[in-house]
Amino acid sequence: MCGIVGFSSRRHSAVGPLVNGLRRLEYRGYDSAGVALQSDGGIRVYKQTGKVGELEKLLKEKLPAAERDAFKMGIAHTRWATHGLPTAANAHPHVADGGRLALVHNGIIENYAALRAGLEKRGVAFASQTDTEVLAHLIAQFDKDDFLSAVTQALKQVEGTYGIAVMSMRHPGEMVVARKGSPLVIGIGEHETVVASDVSAIVAHTRQVIYLKDGDVALVTPDGVNVYTLDNAPVSRDVQEIEFDLGAVEKGGFDHFMLKEIHEQPEALRNTIRGRLDKTDGTAILSGLNLTPRELAAVRRLVIVGCGTSLHAGMVGKHYFESLADIPTSPEQAAEFRYSNPIISPDDWVIALSQSGETADTLAAVRESMRKGALVSGLCNVVGSTIAREVGRGVYLHAGPEISVASTKAFTAQVTALLMTALKLGRTRRLSREEGLRLVAEIERIPDLVGAVVARSNEIAAIAEKRCKAEDMFFIGRGVLYPTALEGALKVKEIAYLHAEGYQAAELKHGPIALLTEKTPVVALLADIPGKEKTVGNVQECRARNAPVVGVVTEGDEEAASHVDDAIFVPRTSEWVAPIVSVVALQLFAYHVARLRGCEIDQPRNLAKSVTVE
Ligand code: M6R
Repeated sequence: MCGIVGFSSRRHSAVGPLVNGLRRLEYRGYDSAGVALQSDGGIRVYKQTGKVGELEKLLKEKLPAAERDAFKMGIAHTRWATHGLPTAANAHPHVADGGRLALVHNGIIENYAALRAGLEKRGVAFASQTDTEVLAHLIAQFDKDDFLSAVTQALKQVEGTYGIAVMSMRHPGEMVVARKGSPLVIGIGEHETVVASDVSAIVAHTRQVIYLKDGDVALVTPDGVNVYTLDNAPVSRDVQEIEFDLGAVEKGGFDHFMLKEIHEQPEALRNTIRGRLDKTDGTAILSGLNLTPRELAAVRRLVIVGCGTSLHAGMVGKHYFESLADIPTSPEQAAEFRYSNPIISPDDWVIALSQSGETADTLAAVRESMRKGALVSGLCNVVGSTIAREVGRGVYLHAGPEISVASTKAFTAQVTALLMTALKLGRTRRLSREEGLRLVAEIERIPDLVGAVVARSNEIAAIAEKRCKAEDMFFIGRGVLYPTALEGALKVKEIAYLHAEGYQAAELKHGPIALLTEKTPVVALLADIPGKEKTVGNVQECRARNAPVVGVVTEGDEEAASHVDDAIFVPRTSEWVAPIVSVVALQLFAYHVARLRGCEIDQPRNLAKSVTVE
């Protein structure tokens, strides 16, 4: 969704760093972009609809290279429209005080209509339909001697969420940033300070960062940062080191981030697993959970909340927890859960699954669960993200930055982390040491098994070529492979703009089979695990209706392969690892279908990487 960059330096022009920073945030999804630049002469604003490239063209036209050096401070934004169409007028930054104050904002100001009416009564004229512009004018109303107080006074009137960066000609060289419910990170460089909603826009400048907490307000200058509460009391925040380098947020020779991230999975999974397997006792070491065996043994029910791909990972987790640890488990779509007045008891454990750690509905589900006294933990990829911090306990995926909107490596890392969690819980119950050790050995093999599927990319591309012209597809699986079917269908929808549905294999004949023709390929999950024969039966029903079938089949299982038109082979595994190797085949299938259809793979239309609105 929206992205923020701010830059303040003693030596360098802000123009290049701001535009490059916006480029790093492009993956989040947006529809317009803008920049406000401050020099001794005032603030200049440039805004444009479309991609950052369009903004760059505008800057080239309107801001000659010779003039750029004068602008050592600036703020920039990519907007994903919520209030008002994606027009240049609605794009950020928004200005107030006759162009002397400029502001960028992520989040939603819920009481903007009332605030706007009040400001209009006082004669303020608005130039956009956005909620954000209200905040710019509100700050301007208070902006006299102390910039920080002007911002905090305005923020106290705001209901909703925000990550903001604001600058004013009344206080040259100062930038104020603040966050509530929308992430903001400050990078500390040498005589320059960088602000961004995401560390990927910072890592090119410095790896030393401060993650602001909700309710923090910071005064930023080229020489550093001071953090305060909304009541202007100074607070101290640790400087932390970003754990990846610039290469992790670049394509590194791949055509798309999605393909790069699919290929990164063996390494990402090694990082997820590293140091977490106990080969003596046959269990997992997940110290971030910070739970004693007694506390683990007291858990009576698990609830896994998440959205999209994370929800699908949670659905795989249900099979793990119920089979390995005998604990009833409900995977819940986070938005449905949060508004369902969920019944929670103190011996429930709620696990929040989120790659970004910022998804609004998952965060709200976390807060509701905490309010009701559940034990809550997170399973997030982004270090320092809001969910990770609010729950205060959990398991980081360590999968590295995921840039492509279509989640791939986060899914396999989530499922692997859930398997380790189930192993740990299982060992507090009926799972024997021998069974635990067998599972440990199996988990250790996951990275290599995944690598073997990735190596089949060309074969999968050839199968994708045969099916890429379809306009409808079905994905079927049963048991632990049903969520994989949902995930395969989601990937194809997201990036190939093709109507795809995931079904329990047995459910197809209860209605959807009516849609099958020679034009509706069915992708069947046929890994050789319990239940496969029954899915083979469902495949026969599909072929009897002339639907072409692509099977994801275990290597060497010629019998299953003989029932499908095209087989994608995956290594033989236990039922616990089958969803992981099978999903990698589907990720590659979706990727190649999208590529062959000429789709915009890394930034699919209408989608955002992290969904921070309801
Ligand atoms: O960051 P999260 O894991 O909380 O994101 C949840 C979903 O928005 C996300 O998985 C989405 O479905 C992806 N685009 C799927 O590829």
